[in-house]
Order: sequence, then C-alpha cells, then structure tokens
Amino acid sequence: MRGQLFDNHGRPINYLRLAVTDRCNLRCFYCMPEEGIDYVAREELLSYEEMLRIVRTLVPLGIHKIRLTGGEPFLRRDFMDFLRASSRMAGLEQIHLTTNGTLTEQHVPELKALGIRSVNLSIDTLDRQRFHEITRRDSLPQVLATLDALIAHGITTKINAVVMDGRNIEDILPMVAMTNDYPVSVRFIEEMPFNGGDAHYTKLPWDHHRIIAHIRAAYPTLEKLPDPPNSTSYNYQIPGHQGSVGVIAAYSRTFCGTCNRIRITPQGLLKTCLYDQGVFNIRDLVRAGATDAQLQDAFTTALQHRAVDGWEAEGRQTKDPAGRESMATIGG
Ligand code: GTP
Ligand code: 5AD
Ligand code: SF4
Repeated sequence: MRGQLFDNHGRPINYLRLAVTDRCNLRCFYCMPEEGIDYVAREELLSYEEMLRIVRTLVPLGIHKIRLTGGEPFLRRDFMDFLRASSRMAGLEQIHLTTNGTLTEQHVPELKALGIRSVNLSIDTLDRQRFHEITRRDSLPQVLATLDALIAHGITTKINAVVMDGRNIEDILPMVAMTNDYPVSVRFIEEMPFNGGDAHYTKLPWDHHRIIAHIRAAYPTLEKLPDPPNSTSYNYQIPGHQGSVGVIAAYSRTFCGTCNRIRITPQGLLKTCLYDQGVFNIRDLVRAGATDAQLQDAFTTALQHRAVDGWEAEGRQTKDPAGRESMATIGG
C-alpha cells in the first residue's frame, strides 16, 4: 500500500483532470481556431481500458477525485460506458464532468443515477446571437436545456464563463442575475492564451479584480463566501440569491499555492501544471508493459520536479509558446 502523493513543494495531489478527447463540436474562439486543430490520431489516444488502468493505479496514491474533460467528452464514442466503468471503481470517491452541454441533456438522468458529483457547464453568454459568434455554432438552446435538466435532477452545477474584452462584458451582469433564480455557481474565468493560435497578453484587460469590481458596482451588497479547500474560484454571493458567483484567476494564477491537481491529455501526456509542456507520456509506459508499481513510481518522481506555480511552469517551456496550444488538447 502506498501513501499519499505530495509534490516537491509539500502540496498533496489528490485530483486528476483526465481529458478523454481533444475533439469538440464547438469552436469557441478562445479555445480553437475556426478551422479546428490537428486532432490526435485515434491510435495515439489513450483507450478507455488504458485510462481505467491509469486511474486504478493512481487511486492508491490518494487520487480520489477525477474530472473528465475534453474537448467535449460526450463526443467520444461510448463515453457513457467509460463513465459506468469509472463509477464502479473502488476507492474513486468523486467523478466530476466539464462539458459544453450540447450533447449532454439526454444523459442527465443516468449521470444522476451514477452518482456524478458535479457538472461544470461552459456558457459564456445568455444571448443566442453572441453565443453563436463566440462558439461559431448556434447551440445555446441545447445547452440551456442541459442546464435545466441538471437542476431538475439536483446535480450540483457550475457555469464557466470566460470573460473576453469586447465580446461578452455585457453578459456579466445578466449571468450574475441568473443566480437569483438558479441554484448554480456562475464562475467568471480570466481568459488564458490557450486558443490554438497566437494570442498573448501584455496585460489582461479583465482580471479577477476588475470582474468583481464590475459586479460590485451593480450589486453593492455582494458578500465574500468562504472558499472550499483547493478552490480555483474566489466565491461570492448576493444576499437572497439561491446561487453564488465566482471568479477564477486562471491567468493571474493566484491560487497555485493550494494546487492539488495533475492533468492527463487525450494522448497520455502528464501535465503537473496547466502551463507546463508535459512531463512524460504515460501511454508509452503503459504500452511498453510497465507494471503498476512502475507507473506509480513514474508519477511520484514527476511530482518531485513540479514548478512552484504557473509562472514558473510557463517560464520552463522550451516548445511552442503557450498561446499555440488549444485548451481542447490540454483538457481545460
Ligand atoms: P472544480 O473541481 O469544480 O473546482 O472545478 P475546476 O475549476 O477545477 O474545473 P473546470 O474544468 O470547471 O475549470 C474551470 C476553469 O478553471 C477553466 O478555465 C480551467 O482551465 C481553469 N482551471 C482549472 N484548474 C486550473 C488550474 O489548475 N490552473 C489554472 N490556472 N486554471 C485552472
Ligand atoms: N481561457 C480560459 N478558460 C478557458 N476555457 C477554455 N479555453 C479557455 C481559455 N483560453 C475553459 C472553458 C471550459 C473550461 C474547461 O476551460 O470555459 O469551461
Ligand atoms: Fe496548479 Fe499550475 Fe494551475 Fe497554478 S497554474 S493552479 S500550479 S495547474
């Protein structure tokens, strides 16, 4: 039996973000160029069996929470079979999903039955025309139907809205207003330079301070809530509203001190930080016949060289600048 995983800065690691595909049926411009990205060839993708093996190997090291992301996870064939198998895994306490909500509605009753802990839905605007412009697809009605189904089934739901200067600033207050009627957490995210193109900021126009100041100007009674341990969001509430509001300083990287997560990309690359270029390919080890103990040693060793924060991780990059990477290949 092995102990809990810690990194070289003493942070416990107990949360794995696993991206099951890099494919997506939307083209959000902050994530992918219009023509899409060069998708990973099928044989390079981790198979579901390989993913289950990896998760099973990590559970004894203290990984008790996984978040399945993409790309869009529901686009991968037989994703629900994978979810069923994951939900049966001994020791894996929590399974969470991040989805764009376009293909999710029909599966919501089963997500509830399987005990999926929470679903994070990407919605950057409540205006159908702007949704179409931002995602390059006219899918807002399907996404809102998913939101209604999640709430009707009592599944904990968070809404992720990337804040983009000149694109959806007028949507911030209507999305805050949603928390009056819906028991959801609406989280505004600083835009990061992972759009598969070449965006780079010298200064981020809308950082978490400015987003909160903008909300507070309209809702002076905005109250700070205590943040759960390892939270990516700073959380607030408007008194009397059912839901809450959050900001995620994803670009400012102010929450790295409590970072408890690692990522595995669709092709099996381990990232010990969202901003690193990948440490080693776990798929290659699995396909070379590594034992469970060898896989566990590889993770333990990789975590002894972890950057202290996203700034150091980005500074260590030797490959393409971070801006070239798409969030769909990282898994968010
Ligand atoms: P919870 O488990 O509900 O706390 O969700 P989460 O915030 O970890 O996950 P989600 O997939 O909803 O991500 C929301 C936003 O936070 C996305 O833009 C992510 O890229 C960003 N994010 C998540 N984890 C990290 C992280 O470790 N570092 C940074 N910089 N951003 C992150
Ligand atoms: N900057 C910030 N957040 C992003 N996401 C995707 N691309 C970016 C980006 N460039 C968010 C999506 C999704 C989550 C997993 O990552 O909103 O909800
Ligand atoms: Fe963790 Fe890196 Fe994100 Fe900071 S930027 S919270 S170190 S993954």
